[in-house]
Amino acid sequence: MRCHACRGPANVEIRRSRTAYCARCYPAWFRTQVQERIDHERMFRRDQGILVAVSGGKDSLALWHALTELGYRADGMYIRLGIGDYSQRSQAKSEAFASERGLTLHQVDLKEAQGFAVPDLLDTRSGKPCAACGTVKRYHFNKVAADLGYEVVATGHNLDDEAATLFGNVMHWNVDYLGRQGPVLASTHPKLVRKVKPLYRLSERETAAYAIIERLDYILEECPMAKGAKSLAYKGMLNALEEEQPGAKYGFLVGFLKQGRHAVPGGDFDQATDLRECTRCGQPTTGELCAYCKMADRGRKKSASKAAKYAR
Ligand code: AMP
Ligand code: FES
Ligand code: ZN
Repeated sequence: MRCHACRGPANVEIRRSRTAYCARCYPAWFRTQVQERIDHERMFRRDQGILVAVSGGKDSLALWHALTELGYRADGMYIRLGIGDYSQRSQAKSEAFASERGLTLHQVDLKEAQGFAVPDLLDTRSGKPCAACGTVKRYHFNKVAADLGYEVVATGHNLDDEAATLFGNVMHWNVDYLGRQGPVLASTHPKLVRKVKPLYRLSERETAAYAIIERLDYILEECPMAKGAKSLAYKGMLNALEEEQPGAKYGFLVGFLKQGRHAVPGGDFDQATDLRECTRCGQPTTGELCAYCKMADRGRKKSASKAAKYAR
């Protein structure tokens, strides 16, 4: 195959659009895709401060890299989740990326600041902390951005992530989540920062190709706690389908966003509107105490009982 831009020998094939690019032309194609989505979805403007949530993985580092190359003012945020060596290695990758480029990286240390870590949040039914971990991440993305005055939080969610989430929400008919799934979540409260996912139409393979060609040093391993998680099974299944039908994942997600979403009751992109402030932490919530504060109480109890066991 030939490169769609320069006609030289191609290195990366984009099967769903039957095109390919050489390693020299590919990064510009990737960044054009990102820019096109930012503009089309009106994610943010050049004069706004953007906070990129970075995990040390390929997607979030590719996003941070692409945004800075495109001339955006983007700082990073890393949350120390306390998942053993995995967290330490991903923190080191995030810090190295920032320091090599003179970028600002804010950090939150869950254990130090909150007295618990993600492994203290195991769900009694699934035995996994992933759902609670999602709540922890969303809470701190929002809080750090709101406290420091950023107008937008950008995450590295890619097409594979979004298609797998959509599949899970359809499988379980989580109508509330279906209505809120999308690349942009508007701010509906002064303390609720706008959330965007600029890579949502680019596949994991495409972001990996960008990270490799741009020589980004990212963490290869996946979170050890996610082993056996349903989302991984959905991803595997969608990839098997993609092999047979190139473009299946893209069609599933983009078709839903264009057509299916409107059919879901309350299906718009806004975050909850009926909000007041959590009586403990002041963050926006629908109830008296926010979901995070309730969960943090459980985490701290668990952490204290583990510490007591070791002290014995
Ligand atoms: P995940 O939930 O692990 O699939 O990650 C989805 C997105 O959340 C990533 O692309 C990052 O933007 C962000 N993210 C994940 N882990 C962290 C972390 N420890 N600190 C900051 N952002 C994170
Ligand atoms: Fe949250 Fe793995 S990153 S459980
Ligand atoms: Zn709270």
